[in-house]
Amino acid sequence: MTSSGPNRRRTAILISGRGSNMTALIEAARDPQYPADIVLVLSNRPEAAGLARATAAGIATAVIDHKLFGKDRAAFDQALDSVLAEHGIELVCLAGFMRVLTPWFVERWTGRMLNVHPSLLPAFRGLDTHRRALEAGVREHGCTVHFVVPELDAGPIIRQAALPVLPGDTEETLAARVLAQEHVIYPAALAQVASGKARLEGDHVVFAPEAQAGARTAARS
Ligand code: GAR
Repeated sequence: MTSSGPNRRRTAILISGRGSNMTALIEAARDPQYPADIVLVLSNRPEAAGLARATAAGIATAVIDHKLFGKDRAAFDQALDSVLAEHGIELVCLAGFMRVLTPWFVERWTGRMLNVHPSLLPAFRGLDTHRRALEAGVREHGCTVHFVVPELDAGPIIRQAALPVLPGDTEETLAARVLAQEHVIYPAALAQVASGKARLEGDHVVFAPEAQAGARTAARS
């Protein structure tokens, strides 16, 4: 169980699946010095494997099943917003949350909602990023943590990790190396935002001087 100290930002993680990035964030937040406290994990899919992981870690969970809302995205997002308010959430981390959010919701959380994406944005927005990177023959691939804006995978970048595409790489080997880097940069980016060392100003992220250094990491493998 994590504690909620006075200066730790109350953070919710939104998932749809296995939740390995969620787990990386929960692990980082076990440190009492970490500036965010993970107080809620919320899924739009009742069967998401990450929910059991969150419960095992002592974190409160909630499910808002998008299927119950049919095509009504606005009602789903309103339900989501209400649950976040009930838990006094200050920051939201999307971690494999495979639902497009309405502009209303995104604008309510502007500057307070982060996403991790498995490519070096602005390259390869959307799905199947590793397959498309291999098809394009890029020599470098990676992952990005960014603030969420209404346009999909388009928000201002907080942190990236780049790694070389190796001869013989498959979608699976590349995905595994990128995922390992996601687990490094997401906790680092959340720490920057929660501590106020990275913040959204208009269309750009403004960093405290000491935070700028790690904005882009080159991984060796
Ligand atoms: C991660 O690779 C994340 O970057 C990706 O889904 C995976 C979730 O894995 N997200 C997107 O593609 C969003 N556009 P996880 O559930 O193990 O964290």
